[in-house]
Amino acid sequence: MKILVTGGAGYIGSHTCVELLNAGYEIVVLDNFYNSCAESLNRIKELTGKDFKFYECDIRDRDGLEKIFAENNIDAVIHFAGLKAVGESVQKPLEYYENNVGGTITLCEAMRDAGCKKIVFSSSATVYGMNNPSPLKETMQIGGTTNPYGTTKYMIELILQDLYVSDKDWSITILRYFNPIGAHESGRIGENPNGIPNNLMPYVTQVAVGKLSCLSVFGDDYDTHDGTGVRDYIHVVDLALGHIKAVEKVASCTGVNIYNLGTGNGYSVLDIVKAVEKASGVKVNYKIVPRRPGDLATCYSDPSKAKAELGWVAERGIEKMCEDSWRWQKNNPKGY
Ligand code: NAD
Ligand code: UFG
Repeated sequence: MKILVTGGAGYIGSHTCVELLNAGYEIVVLDNFYNSCAESLNRIKELTGKDFKFYECDIRDRDGLEKIFAENNIDAVIHFAGLKAVGESVQKPLEYYENNVGGTITLCEAMRDAGCKKIVFSSSATVYGMNNPSPLKETMQIGGTTNPYGTTKYMIELILQDLYVSDKDWSITILRYFNPIGAHESGRIGENPNGIPNNLMPYVTQVAVGKLSCLSVFGDDYDTHDGTGVRDYIHVVDLALGHIKAVEKVASCTGVNIYNLGTGNGYSVLDIVKAVEKASGVKVNYKIVPRRPGDLATCYSDPSKAKAELGWVAERGIEKMCEDSWRWQKNNPKGY
């Protein structure tokens, strides 16, 4: 099978490309390098010993997409490309809707015209909004998102559902990721945030490596075991392996299938700080500051549907996640 990976140079995309190549899939990668660089592609080749075609292209570029589908016999698309910074999306809503929603529509149009109607889409636990209790299940009502980024994911899920209603040849798998952390265990590919990280793990490892001076812990008065926010952290390699199962699923049926990809376990901010200290042997400086607006106390998955229907379970625990995040950070203190 030949898979087009949009956003394949990014954090989750690059790890998924490695697992797809290792599993024997042929891949074609598309990225506009808005939030990534060509070096990640070199490292995918280095880790797998395999080559693949790359197109520097934007998912909003209809002609560019047409060319990719014309030149390659694509069987299915894994669609990672998108903007993902929650805070930035509040400042730049039009850019987020245009890139994420507009880009996905253009991609689906190009797919339809090329007769390729199998897609795996990167959604997020953020679509469950503020009102559902954890563990979060796929059957819960979605919406009530609190920022434009989350709303783009919600809107795209609705668009993909409508697409299937209009044409039953489509096979659509929507994956709702929880909190991806960790890196390939070689330490050669990993998360490479621009500027000051928004997410917890890259912030913590940058403090541990001495690049940043102190972690701000957003609130210690939540109703959780130590008062700090609880999330379902998942190793990026487990997440990548979930995409292999999802590709098998889209290849074998039509319809819309939705899966949580999480571990089902919740860890607090201070649990993560301690686990990184253990993995690195370095003390992580932190201070408690007020809550970050829009944050939930607790968010974790019920991952049983993915286990039952895809035969997928996250296997890497929190220690492994922190060891691998740390190895990537230590070996690449300036990123790629
Ligand atoms: P990332 O920024 O590392 O990767 C996204 C890639 O898409 C980047 O390489 C970027 O250059 C590319 N891209 C962006 N807009 C593009 C466009 N218009 N045309 C072509 N390429 C474009 O992010 P990631 O963490 O790997 O996330 C991948 C997907 O998973 C995103 O859709 C994201 O919203 C979703 N997701 C991520 C998380 C997370 O915490 N990392 C959680 C839930 C969902
Ligand atoms: N946190 C801190 N300090 C920081 C950063 C984060 O204390 O500097 C805390 C947050 O308050 C939260 C936890 O660490 O309790 C995790 O925060 P992240 O920003 O790493 O992750 P979120 O759960 O807020 O958001 C992530 C992705 C979103 C996605 C969401 C739901 O960044 O894209 O998960 O899937 F929408």
